[in-house]
Amino acid sequence: MTEFNQSEWIESENVQEFIKNSDNFILERKQQFKILGSFYNHFLRHKIKNRNVRVLDLGCGDGRISHEILKLDACAEIFLVDGSLEMLENAKSNLKNWNNIHYIHKSFQSLMKNDNLGNFDFVVSALAIHHLSQKEKELLFIYIHNHLNDGGCYLNMDVVLPNTDQLEEWYLKLWWEWIQEKEIESSFEETFRHIPQLYQNNPDNHPDTMEQQLNALQQSGFKM
Ligand SMILES: C[S@@+](CC[C@H](N)C(=O)[O-])C[C@H]1O[C@@H](n2cnc3c(N)ncnc32)[C@H](O)[C@@H]1O
Repeated sequence: MTEFNQSEWIESENVQEFIKNSDNFILERKQQFKILGSFYNHFLRHKIKNRNVRVLDLGCGDGRISHEILKLDACAEIFLVDGSLEMLENAKSNLKNWNNIHYIHKSFQSLMKNDNLGNFDFVVSALAIHHLSQKEKELLFIYIHNHLNDGGCYLNMDVVLPNTDQLEEWYLKLWWEWIQEKEIESSFEETFRHIPQLYQNNPDNHPDTMEQQLNALQQSGFKM
């Protein structure tokens, strides 16, 4: 189990690198935002009419995911949770023009132990849950399921572990190729081609297979 205060996210250098450059090395980040927007419109915004949609953003970072939701639905009431105070301070500054926003400085582990946030229509997380151990993920899925209103949705935009080493090798290569293409297109001065290898060697990353995640979600009560 990696406690948050031993993770890479307590290092300001890692926080700043992610904030500054994540769009340049996260595969299809813009496309992921489009899918998030379409999901939100389809399952939430057009379904919940008489009140504000309540959203929980787990591992919110500097608020990019919440910002995408607010661009579609300025009335959403969003709870942003992150173990990093530095990330939350950046989120506060990025979302200062919106109301109904709550910032919660907590690790997922302590949120699950001590929680008074109420229930949500939408729980979303991007690139955060793979930092948890398998057991912690299972507990978090149960927590999320228990905190969803009737008809609520959970969307996890995260990495998975391929089933074979050969596939993993190719996925990492594909990621590397995407970064290379983007660098050439945008004439970056800095290179991000080392990121896939860094991701693979980082002991803070605990991705598991799609099958394991789907099983854990089903066992927590989710319908897919
Ligand atoms: C890769 S960043 C993603 C940020 C944001 N979701 C995005 O897509 O831009 C991962 C975030 O998860 C947070 N995080 C990682 N493990 C956590 C934990 N156990 N509890 C709370 N936050 C955590 C980190 O502090 C970091 O802000």
